[in-house]
Amino acid sequence: MLSKKNPVILRTILIAIEIMDFERPFYILAIESSCDDTAAAVLDADKLLANEVAGQDIHQIWGGVVPELASRAHHQQIVPVVHAALTKAKISKEQLHAVAFTKGPGLPGSLLVGVSFAKAFAASLNIPFVGVNHMQGHILAHLIDSGNERPEFPFLCLTVSGGHTQIVRVDSPVKMEILGQTTDDAAGEAFDKTAKMLGLPYPGGPHIDRLAKTGNPHAFVFPEPKIEGCNFSFSGLKTSMLYLLQREEKARPGFTSANQQHLAASLQFTIVKILINKLLLAAKSTGINQLALAGGVSANSELRTEFSKLRERGFKTFIPPFEFCTDNAAMIGIGGYFLLKNGIQSGLDTIAEPGMKF
Ligand code: KG4
Ligand code: ZN
Repeated sequence: MLSKKNPVILRTILIAIEIMDFERPFYILAIESSCDDTAAAVLDADKLLANEVAGQDIHQIWGGVVPELASRAHHQQIVPVVHAALTKAKISKEQLHAVAFTKGPGLPGSLLVGVSFAKAFAASLNIPFVGVNHMQGHILAHLIDSGNERPEFPFLCLTVSGGHTQIVRVDSPVKMEILGQTTDDAAGEAFDKTAKMLGLPYPGGPHIDRLAKTGNPHAFVFPEPKIEGCNFSFSGLKTSMLYLLQREEKARPGFTSANQQHLAASLQFTIVKILINKLLLAAKSTGINQLALAGGVSANSELRTEFSKLRERGFKTFIPPFEFCTDNAAMIGIGGYFLLKNGIQSGLDTIAEPGMKF
């Protein structure tokens, strides 16, 4: 009776029963569109089969992401990117068991494209779908079966991206607690905004990283914020860089371009020091010795080096492969896998949540 009245519900129930066993194959299509990358991935349960990302160069000329342009670009790119992921995974859409998508946090217009596409796509195939928190996705990327060593629970994750800086205690894929976060700018923002002052293109993080390799990290001293507990503050760093450049440019025109690499190295040194010290504080207060890194800034070479050095102090460290550092859909797929496995799915009334918390 149920099947005749509502085949979507019946198929969803059947798939939910299948999920309890989680025998492979369990094909998940994942979609990520929270900011300026249109990404699609295909997983077989927790194993990654394809991970496609289309960036948006259009923002470079504006020195930052323009929300309306991002939304339009997602609109143009989402179908080809999903097609590319399915082709690479050698999966037809009829073979899919579920769809996962980024529900938030992110830019409203960008999220809307992914959420609408995912819901419509899943509904047309009569398969379940689930919205995933982008920040939790960054963390859960560590649990993708991609040949890497995976952390055991509980672990601490330092998540550093363009919009967020958090230290999260992870007790299970669905039980996480934020121990500290930024009270103003994110670490990625600190990289991007100061890079802009140095005349570098957007996003500035990778440019600072490259320039810093030839610079002296002790050439300039930037103040470290005095902020309680495991929280962060990076806005003072930006102001301090601005005042330094204004003062020196006035006294010695051409100072900025002549010292680009030293300014980049000193800034990077300060940001990395702040991040590592706060992570150590969190480790001390929780007694947890497994530490993971996540988010776009985890691609930073000095942060990776300093983080890895924590092994010498008795910590077990986990750094994601590069393809899982910046925004990608594999991390949303693994997040969706765990939610489905725990009996959580979304309904057609699900909407994008730009300010989504966890
Ligand atoms: O996680 P993500 O891809 O997007 C957000 O969710 O924000 O992070 C993007 C951020 C940008 O601020 C970018 O400058 C920074 O990650 N980033 C880096 C590096 N690669 C990307 N920052 C420092 N060094 C890098 N190598
Ligand atoms: Zn991100």
